[in-house]
Amino acid sequence: MTDKKATLSVEDKNLDYAVISGSIGPQVIDIRKLYAQTGMFTYDPGFTSTASCDSALTYIDGDQGILLHRGYPIDQLAEQSSFMEVAYLLLNGELPDGDTLSDFTRTITRHTMLHEQLATFYRGFRRDAHPMAIMCGVVGALSAFYHDSTDISDPVQRKIASHRLIAKMPTIAAMAYKYSVGQPFVYPRNDLSYTANFLRMTFSVPAEDYIPDPVIVDAMDKIFILHADHEQNASTSTVRLAGSSGANPFACIAAGIACLWGPAHGGANEAALNMLREIGTPDRIPEYIARAKNKDDPFRLMGFGHRVYKNFDPRAKVMQKTATDVLDKLGVKDPIFDVARELEQIALQDDYFIEKKLYPNVDFYSGVILSAIGFPTDMFTVLFALARTVGWVAQWNEMISDPDQRIGRPRQLYTGPDVRDYVPLDKR
Ligand code: CMC
Repeated sequence: MTDKKATLSVEDKNLDYAVISGSIGPQVIDIRKLYAQTGMFTYDPGFTSTASCDSALTYIDGDQGILLHRGYPIDQLAEQSSFMEVAYLLLNGELPDGDTLSDFTRTITRHTMLHEQLATFYRGFRRDAHPMAIMCGVVGALSAFYHDSTDISDPVQRKIASHRLIAKMPTIAAMAYKYSVGQPFVYPRNDLSYTANFLRMTFSVPAEDYIPDPVIVDAMDKIFILHADHEQNASTSTVRLAGSSGANPFACIAAGIACLWGPAHGGANEAALNMLREIGTPDRIPEYIARAKNKDDPFRLMGFGHRVYKNFDPRAKVMQKTATDVLDKLGVKDPIFDVARELEQIALQDDYFIEKKLYPNVDFYSGVILSAIGFPTDMFTVLFALARTVGWVAQWNEMISDPDQRIGRPRQLYTGPDVRDYVPLDKR
């Protein structure tokens, strides 16, 4: 709370509303009493000016291109930390010491196996099902398997559910891939790191083991860190809203996965690589830039633009460097990477993109890396979901442990017909 007040004049009344400060970032006007006092709602479709909650997890300054998790800048975490450490940080608020990190990693490792019955659940899907459809189904189905972790008022049960979700997501994701290519499922191995284990479960076959390359493991771990959390984005808000009714956490995460799938959100990494492939060669870039600028053409430059970042996306910088490292290491000469770099240069100098503050986002380069590692495009958003599960469960925990938490229930501006009498069928 500050001494500041915001005054709203409605007809002949002046109403004062408290202005609340966070630790950093824009202040908010507390309008919770507005409806009771005026009979009016605020109108903010797309929530461009609405803080839906308070949160101590992640801070974004979109004008400066800053992203902090619990105060730590994303580039420092990506360069110096590990995904397990970031997961601990997001869940618990502080970086772990060595023993705590080992304990946490051990706990996650011990939860990576799935109930064997779940393996049969996969077989209900068509082989050509999109892996995000499988993710929605399988993660939702976990709620049927873990009744003991559905008492969400118990912090211990919440913690176990969170650990299970973080631990099982790589197994579920790898199995979705294996199912789509018709290969047998590969079980997790406890002697490997979280990320190496995931890569092995994805790429190993009974006839030939996959030995994870440390450069690839490191790149994948960075990609997971870069996707771990991102404040109140659409899928996180979905998880919070679903969770606000007291729903089962596994079902809430399935709701988040469904939201993430869309091309305006997590689905953009798949769409961005498909777009780069469609462009194919640098000489065709101007044609696509012209289409992106044409109001009558629904085409957008995928992997460009962001609701919050209006300067640059700090995750995209790390991603671009990681793409160079991975392609160099693998000796891959992917023409798509040349198209991406050239497209970035051309777009950054174009008045349309400058005026609208459109910059490459996290999804622009991630597809180039994932494709070089060997993932098919339809797996890209699955990897995003795997990493974002950490943010989703941390945000869900934060919300449920807040004693003032209430069900999320937005209101609306009604534009339908006024009251009218029912007309019987024979009179219409
Ligand atoms: N290509 C061409 N024009 C664009 C683009 C783009 N990628 N993004 C925004 N614009 C234009 C848009 O047409 C609009 O123009 P006008 O003011 O003339 O109507 C203006 O820029 C503002 O766009 P908006 O759609 O009102 O902005 P938004 O904040 O609602 O949308 C966005 C943000 C990320 C959905 C959008 O930039 C977009 O669709 N980008 C492509 C998809 C993408 O890369 N998404 C990944 C986002 S980052 C990861 C994640 O969140 O999951």
